[in-house]
Amino acid sequence: MKVAMPRKPIIRTWKLHQSFGSHEVLKAVTLEIPETSIYAVIGQSGTGKSVLFKTIMGMLPPDGGKVWFKERELSALSPDALLAMRKSFGYAFQNAALFDSMTVEENLAFPLKEVLRLKDRDLIRQRVTELLAWIELPGIGSRRPDTLSGGMRKRVGVARALILRPEVLFFDEPTTGLDPVLSETIHSLVVRVRRELGITCVLITHDIPAAFRIADRIAFLDQGSIIAEGSPGELARSDHPLVQAFIRISFVGNTAAPSREPGA
Ligand SMILES: Nc1ncnc2c1ncn2[C@@H]1O[C@H](COP(=O)(O)OP(=O)(O)O)[C@@H](O)[C@H]1O
Ligand SMILES: [Mg+2]
Repeated sequence: MKVAMPRKPIIRTWKLHQSFGSHEVLKAVTLEIPETSIYAVIGQSGTGKSVLFKTIMGMLPPDGGKVWFKERELSALSPDALLAMRKSFGYAFQNAALFDSMTVEENLAFPLKEVLRLKDRDLIRQRVTELLAWIELPGIGSRRPDTLSGGMRKRVGVARALILRPEVLFFDEPTTGLDPVLSETIHSLVVRVRRELGITCVLITHDIPAAFRIADRIAFLDQGSIIAEGSPGELARSDHPLVQAFIRISFVGNTAAPSREPGA
C-alpha cells in the first residue's frame, strides 16, 4: 500500500469572515491547502465559494480572519508586496475571458509583456509556442478566440493563466457549460497541471464525481461555513446529512461508493 506523505500547506486561512452589508457570506472559514495538491471546494450555489476564492487571492480584503501564502500573511503586506505576491496565483476565469480582438498568441503574450515586461520577441514566442503544444493545441496561435470551440477556448484560458508560471492555479467552475467529454479534457488538464508542472490546483466545481476522482482533499462549504473537509474517502464517510445527500444525488446510478483514498 502506498502511504501518502503529508505535505505542508501552501495556503492557510484562519477564521475568515466576509460580509456584504448585513449579509454574512463567509463565517469563520479555516482551511489548509497542501502544497502541490488538487484541492476541491464543493457546495450549493450562492454559498460563498467564489467569494472564498477572491478573499484567498487577495482580491477582497476579509472583514476578519487571516490568509497565509506560505509563511506570508496577506494583510501584513504592503500594496506593492501584495501585488507581487499575487503573481504567484493564476486564475482560470469561468468564461476564459480572452480578448477576441487579439489572436490566441497575442492573448498569451499579453501577460508576459504587461506583467513581466518581457521585451524579447523570440523568448515570448517560444514560451507561447511551448505552452500551446503543452495544452495539445499547437498551431492555433494565429487564430482568434471567437473562432475556437468552447472546449478549446477553456484550454487557452488555462494556458493564459499558466503563462506566468504561478505556484497556485485557481479554477472557478471550469467545466460549466461543457458536455461530459469536454469536461473530462479539462479535468485531465487539471491533473496534468499538478503532476507535470507541480502547481497546486484549487478548484470550485459542482461536478462531485470529478472532485472525488481527481482531488486529494475536498472541502464542503455550506452557507459560508465548512461542514466537512478531508480526503475523498473521509468526505464519503462524513455523517453530515447535507454532505450525504449531496453525494447520494451526485452518484445516482453509480453503484460504486466513492471511497478512494489519496494515493490509492
Ligand atoms: N460583490 C458582492 N457584493 C454583494 N454580494 C455579493 C458579492 N459577491 C457575492 N455576493 C453574495 O455572496 C453570496 C455568495 O456568492 P458566491 O461566493 O458567488 O457563491 P457561489 O458559492 O455560488 O460561488 C451570494 O449571496 C452573493 O449574492
Ligand atoms: Mg461561484
